[in-house]
Amino acid sequence: MEEILVAYATKMGSTREIAEAIAERIRSAAHEVTVQEAALVQSVAPYKAIVVGSALYAGRWHREAVKLLKRNEELLSRRPVWLFHSGPLGAELTPQRAPKVVRELAARIGADEPVTFGGRLTPETAVGFIAKKMARGEMAGDFRDWDKIALWANMIAERLVAAR
Ligand SMILES: Cc1cc2nc3c(=O)[nH]c(=O)nc-3n(C[C@H](O)[C@H](O)[C@H](O)COP(=O)(O)O)c2cc1C
Repeated sequence: MEEILVAYATKMGSTREIAEAIAERIRSAAHEVTVQEAALVQSVAPYKAIVVGSALYAGRWHREAVKLLKRNEELLSRRPVWLFHSGPLGAELTPQRAPKVVRELAARIGADEPVTFGGRLTPETAVGFIAKKMARGEMAGDFRDWDKIALWANMIAERLVAAR
């Protein structure tokens, strides 16, 4: 069976949970899926298609997700690649533009710009002084759009089936 990689970079876990949900959907369409932290991905060579997701902090992608794209740029340009990010916080899900470096990498790889799935910040999961402080304020909550995530993952699964 051909294998799909879902790689993610997270600080507080919410991007990992999105990656796992995406993987679960793709897996249910009878693909073999590996979910792995971006920093631990040695090479994307074994994978037929790759999904990469990152948390957004101060408008930036997590550096491990950017490093993964940079390290594997050439190989990724020859595979189907889908990108997503987690953020922003707040009930209104305004699609966030990825930072320039990621948009340029996406263009070179031939992938669409990252899709926005919303973020999560709660007192239980917050890491670090600033995040903990923000998690007590009005930005706190889980704003990830699970319906949007499921639809997007289904679209990927269908494209992979069509490409078989
Ligand atoms: C200090 C801080 C800065 C953030 N900056 C952004 C941002 O620039 N854009 C955005 O969309 N979300 C931003 N967020 C929200 C996070 O992206 C959101 O909480 C995300 O789900 C975190 O992902 P993680 O749990 O995988 O680390 C920020 C959150 C914190 C705590």
